[in-house]
Amino acid sequence: MSPLSRRRFLGATLAAAGAAAVASVAGCATGAPPPRTLPARRPLAIPPLAPSTRDAAGRRVVELVAAPGTSTFLPGLATPTWGYGGLPFGGPTLHARRGEDVVLRVTNRLPETTTTHWHGATLPARADGGPHQPIAPGATWEAAWRVDQPAATLWYHPHPHGATERHVHRGLAGLFLVDDDVPAGLPDRYGVDDVPLVLTDRAFAPDGAFDEQHRNAVGLLGDTVLVNGTVAPYLEVTTSRLRLRVLNASPARSYRVALDDEAPLTLVGTDGGLLPAPRTVDGVVLTPGERAEIVVDLRPGVRRVLRSVSHDLGTVNGITQAAGANDTFDLLELRPADRLESSPAVPARLSREAPLDATAAARTRRFVLSDNRINGRGMDTTRVDEVVEVAATEIWEFANRHTQPHNIHVHDARIQVLEPGVPAAERPWKDTVAVPPMTTVRALVRVGPHADPEVPYMLHCHLLRHEDDGMMLQFLVVAPGQRPATSIAAAPGHDHG
Ligand code: C2O
Ligand code: CU
Ligand code: CU
Repeated sequence: MSPLSRRRFLGATLAAAGAAAVASVAGCATGAPPPRTLPARRPLAIPPLAPSTRDAAGRRVVELVAAPGTSTFLPGLATPTWGYGGLPFGGPTLHARRGEDVVLRVTNRLPETTTTHWHGATLPARADGGPHQPIAPGATWEAAWRVDQPAATLWYHPHPHGATERHVHRGLAGLFLVDDDVPAGLPDRYGVDDVPLVLTDRAFAPDGAFDEQHRNAVGLLGDTVLVNGTVAPYLEVTTSRLRLRVLNASPARSYRVALDDEAPLTLVGTDGGLLPAPRTVDGVVLTPGERAEIVVDLRPGVRRVLRSVSHDLGTVNGITQAAGANDTFDLLELRPADRLESSPAVPARLSREAPLDATAAARTRRFVLSDNRINGRGMDTTRVDEVVEVAATEIWEFANRHTQPHNIHVHDARIQVLEPGVPAAERPWKDTVAVPPMTTVRALVRVGPHADPEVPYMLHCHLLRHEDDGMMLQFLVVAPGQRPATSIAAAPGHDHG
């Protein structure tokens, strides 16, 4: 920890000790409203597991309705929000086992067209829920596929062309947990010792509505952090180990998740699933869209605070500030009981998936990020930017030539970043990777086994303002010898000209 962040950290801790107001983001010089006084800590909301039924073919069927509602995040303030599955904000947690056939039916009761994208899923392009699968108001869209990927913490959110940030910001985001038959031996009782933490941040207008005004080029930044929609949450813990599945669902803010005294955490999973082996870390940086699964050790009766601490995004200070990376604030207070059920040790081996093989990479593609453009192009929903052979492993290079803190998310793909000094057998599985300014990230990218010569997948920056601004390309995945479409029917939404 640098002296500066140490000071910030202690300052924030001391301030927190004297007041119940602890979850507001410290030192908001971002142009967002000043930090507000927050209510006393309250129990962390746990998103319910989505109910499902079996159809005659044995498929797991989930019905989701996206609809407007009203939430109360701050005392006495009603906030108009959007949610899935009857929740006014957020969405129920979907879950499926590897090998299961799922049917996800989404009904749109919003006043405008949306889509529902299954972020991180390996699936046919028609089921992906990107800009080419619009759901008009009143309509129902169905996505069906066989879940075939290792256990992972995925999520779902809207992806309408040019309007993703607004739809997500209104509240549309939920988790999708994939389980497989490999017994990992990690805590797995949902809401008990396997706890989701969906991190978002919002600013509020005086009337309680979310403030949707852009004040900087990184995107919408809030002064109040919501964890599963709860402001200033605590969690009562009954076991000696807790697995936390952390999702950064913020439009723009990045987090560095750490314990109050930077005590070690055990990182067990990233976007694409479990690590080959657990890793001891003192914090995890999550840019928008990224996930981490961490295991926290607790002692009976000893409270801990999970925080987000300031961190380096490789950006100059004004931009670091605008991405929220200078801020230090509490995320969740952990309140262990005086007696704790003892949890098994974290297993030494987790994922059994063979690493991607760099020597088998069919080719290298290069993507230069400059302004909010990729290879000089803005999103055109009718253009085919890349064509990839089904199930291919390739090397993709992402070069950020811009001052903004971009990241890159590839649909339908499993990604392993090539980091010097990290052996193949230790590479984490990703689908969203940070690309700091003036750096190049080289990664192995393997696309899924579903070919479709007409319907594209997306690759884009997951800072939602950048994505909406057109920092997105489209790629087709085709079978050998299959002829890819030369253009795609336009998707509804904003025109980038
Ligand atoms: Cu999480 Cu293309 O999105
Ligand atoms: Cu995605
Ligand atoms: Cu970006």
